[in-house]
Amino acid sequence: MGDAGKPRQVRDYSATDEAQWIRCRVLAFLDTSYFDDVLTRKPARDGDLQIVAVVDGTTAGLLDARMDGVESTIETVAVHPDHRRCGIGRTLMQRIYPRLQSRGADQVHAWTRDDRAALNWYRALGFEETMRYLHVYASSADEAVGAFGMRTDLRPRGGFFHAWAEHEGALRAEFERVHSCRRFSKHL
Ligand SMILES: CC(C)(COP(=O)(O)OP(=O)(O)OC[C@H]1O[C@@H](n2cnc3c(N)ncnc32)[C@H](O)[C@@H]1OP(=O)(O)O)[C@@H](O)C(=O)NCCC(=O)NCCS
Repeated sequence: MGDAGKPRQVRDYSATDEAQWIRCRVLAFLDTSYFDDVLTRKPARDGDLQIVAVVDGTTAGLLDARMDGVESTIETVAVHPDHRRCGIGRTLMQRIYPRLQSRGADQVHAWTRDDRAALNWYRALGFEETMRYLHVYASSADEAVGAFGMRTDLRPRGGFFHAWAEHEGALRAEFERVHSCRRFSKHL
């Protein structure tokens, strides 16, 4: 934090950024509902737009975006916790919009869960929620048996499920970890 005045470079991702990209992403998500969505290698995203923000020689933010016809989706956007709220996330988005438009996109989507900071950030950038479903985790043996049923050969210890939002009340009563997964959208 507090680096708003420091020079920052926004440029295309290159393969030599991978270690810092991984570190920035994992630290960015550590205090969010995506804390356990850990990658150890950057997924190959041929054809995607991939940019990074660099402050003092270190990756401070990253954004990957995918084209899908006239629509586009932010695959990943994350800002290192030491650099939050300095405008890096906003700058990354503003840099990507014209590049998506030049490829024919008239809309951009992004998926997120229920972290207050992320929800406020998308709304501050002019996104509106356009779809919602549930991410449900079975986090204990009891929850997993409840979800999968009892078998004689396998003892489930956990699980991850998608569910429709209409089941939210019942699923929240049964499972401790349930996230609303929201799609935010913006016209370009
Ligand atoms: C969400 C995230 C990308 C925002 O990036 P950022 O660089 O910290 O945010 P910005 O400086 O661009 O914020 C722009 C505006 O968004 C809003 N905003 C950002 N963070 C906010 C917060 N924690 N609480 C309330 N509003 C917030 C504010 O209106 C802010 O403008 P202001 O600082 O002038 O008031 C970043 O905090 C992050 O990486 N979080 C963890 C990972 C994540 O949630 N990724 C996105 C969803 S999957």
